[in-house]
Amino acid sequence: MAALKKLGILLSGRGSNFEAIADSIKAGRLQAEIAIVISNRADAPGLESARRRGLNAQLIPSKGRVREEHDAEVVTALKQAQVDLVCLAGYMRLLSPDFIRAFPSRIVNIHPSLLPAFPGMDAQKQALAYGVKVTGCTVHFVDEHLDHGPIILQKTVPVLDSDDEHTLSARILQQEHTAYSEAIGLVLSGEVEVQDRVVRKRTHAEGK
Ligand code: GAR
Repeated sequence: MAALKKLGILLSGRGSNFEAIADSIKAGRLQAEIAIVISNRADAPGLESARRRGLNAQLIPSKGRVREEHDAEVVTALKQAQVDLVCLAGYMRLLSPDFIRAFPSRIVNIHPSLLPAFPGMDAQKQALAYGVKVTGCTVHFVDEHLDHGPIILQKTVPVLDSDDEHTLSARILQQEHTAYSEAIGLVLSGEVEVQDRVVRKRTHAEGK
């Protein structure tokens, strides 16, 4: 049997997407292992959750540090853990070009809107304020721009007249929790490729 692919998870907060990925692995829905979880914040509940699960959980604080230096330390930890794919799970930092070059087409992110609509902070609030009737979540490859790279998978969520930020965020989050594992599975399978920023399934003729 082929060795399991190794994931490196980066988070800054609650960590529910990390937990959903860990649960998918445990349930056998996702063939992978979590080699390392890194938080840039000491108070991130996701870091504590990773420790409780007995995972290799590391704090690499970013506060007051030059981005490039902090990123270099994170890259070193990810390389030491020999990760195949880096998953940003509520990691609220823009990655430096050196970081992205260290893992070409091997960094993914989840965002709570249908990109390119509503990038950045408070995507759910932005969607409500704009008045869209459908929103959702997006899993995408990471490039140097915020919430911008090639889209791997999206799931839609209707916006209800009765929604506030809390209810809408909760329904989007439910979709995020299945979307992220699905997208990671797709990327790890080697079945998708990126052409001119479009992610599509390889045809069999192209081989793997
Ligand atoms: C999630 O909703 C994720 O999509 C969002 O942060 C939340 C983290 O929740 N990410 C972004 O907005 C990235 N631009 P979690 O810590 O419970 O996974």
